[in-house]
Amino acid sequence: MTHARQHHIQVVAHRGASEEAPEHTLAAYRKAIEDGADALECDVRLTADGHLVCVHDRRVNRTSNGRGAVSALELAELNALDFGSWKTRRAARARAGDEEEPDWEFRPEDREHTSVLTLERLLELVADAGRPVELAIETKHPTRWAGQVEERLLDLLGRFGLAAPPAPAESAVRIMSFSARSLHRVRAAAPTLPTVYLMQFVSPRLRDGRLPVGVGIAGPSMRIVRSHPAYVRRLKRAGHQVHVWTVNESSDVDLCVELGVDAIITNRPKAVLRHLGGV
Ligand code: G3P
Ligand code: CA
Repeated sequence: MTHARQHHIQVVAHRGASEEAPEHTLAAYRKAIEDGADALECDVRLTADGHLVCVHDRRVNRTSNGRGAVSALELAELNALDFGSWKTRRAARARAGDEEEPDWEFRPEDREHTSVLTLERLLELVADAGRPVELAIETKHPTRWAGQVEERLLDLLGRFGLAAPPAPAESAVRIMSFSARSLHRVRAAAPTLPTVYLMQFVSPRLRDGRLPVGVGIAGPSMRIVRSHPAYVRRLKRAGHQVHVWTVNESSDVDLCVELGVDAIITNRPKAVLRHLGGV
């Protein structure tokens, strides 16, 4: 599906269409693709037996009915957990009238709604999307598997023919991290993969618009953009793309458009696309 947008700005589904569907489930990503998202964001962690899974937190406690660190659990153990039902609290709030009814129905019997998602399965979904969909993969740090995460990630991308694009601008995948070290490892092994340096605050040594060596894309939080719009202009003048997270409110979308931001990462891809004048 293509969108006749008023503004060209890439819309990236943060953890899938995570406002409505349980984050990082296959169902959330399927919904984001159906909603017309240009790209999908996911966090990756390595399990104790070496599988890359899409889970945000260090521990599984918030988003599943299990307990413990992802890095200490094996994939079979994660597969036995329910990663979807926690989200039904949202549906209950909607029924009680506190929130808008979600445009998505949770079906606990459907494993796509409740299973842990491997990065491999997400790559298959994207390959079968029927239209170009980009992927923004975030390596989560600190982790006991530092170094191995990046190695496994590049191996897996290599298997899908995605690890060595001719140039960063031609890549369907980008790697994001708050860890400059992680991005450095990626760049050393895969120099043409684009990298995004995520920022929760602006470090004094980067205030002039520079990024860690070799990193082309800045990933400031929406809070930075609201409080330091001049910094975004500086990044753009320095020749960097700017990808902002997490942009859920219309006024924030408008500010990003005004500043010439290149991508917005949102939990609500459908609503943002509608706001931007898409179908
Ligand atoms: O897309 C970047 C953003 O996801 C970083 O924050 O905590 O949601 O992973 P977090
Ligand atoms: Ca993330």
